[in-house]
Amino acid sequence: MSHPGTFITIEGVEGAGKSTQSRLLASALSTAGVQPVLTREPGGTPLAERIRDLVLDPAFAPVDPECELFLYLAARTDHVRRQILPRLAAGDWVLCDRFTDATVAYQGYGRGLDVDWVREQAEHAGQVHPDLTLLLDLDVDAGLARVRARGAENRLDAERVEFHRAVRKGYLQLAADQPRRIVIVDAAGGTEEVHRRVLNVVSARLGSRLQRPLAPVREAVR
Ligand code: TMP
Repeated sequence: MSHPGTFITIEGVEGAGKSTQSRLLASALSTAGVQPVLTREPGGTPLAERIRDLVLDPAFAPVDPECELFLYLAARTDHVRRQILPRLAAGDWVLCDRFTDATVAYQGYGRGLDVDWVREQAEHAGQVHPDLTLLLDLDVDAGLARVRARGAENRLDAERVEFHRAVRKGYLQLAADQPRRIVIVDAAGGTEEVHRRVLNVVSARLGSRLQRPLAPVREAVR
């Protein structure tokens, strides 16, 4: 679907720093002259946030993989139609913490559902392709250690390590298959270092759409 907006998604295994890096990138973009809409999946609308609470609640474990898939897709359908498409149609920048690649990586490669079928479902619900996807890549043990140190594990964080390894492998496969859209960013190291790597990629790919060059935000620079 073509639109005048700019759509960036951020992906990665648990603990890769997506939320922090999305927030910092949104700040850097604001300074460079655009006011991006920062959103996330599952979530981003009141209905999708309710689905998020359900799908991540450890009380429901184990959830059938297809049931899990359809919950994520239901959340995405609402989010895309109510929030993402209207904003892109208005010419806005939309920055989304996870999108269709997460479904292929987690429900396809992670849960073992048929990857092509999952991709078809995910793209049907997603309707729009990102202009750029940043894959924050990190060793699974390092990521899970960060999540555990935060002390707020959800149903998926608590999966066995083999599941998370399969998800990472899936993401890397997606990046190998679509190198023009998905750029791997090394997520090891400090927040500032990773923030600079993210800005380098966004500047190289989308800098021509900005009024001013991207600069690291002060919050990330200690
Ligand atoms: P997070 O965005 O806070 O990392 O939590 C979302 C969790 O949901 C994370 O474990 C990845 C998972 N997820 C899927 O399994 N499929 C999806 O389609 C999406 C968007 C997320």
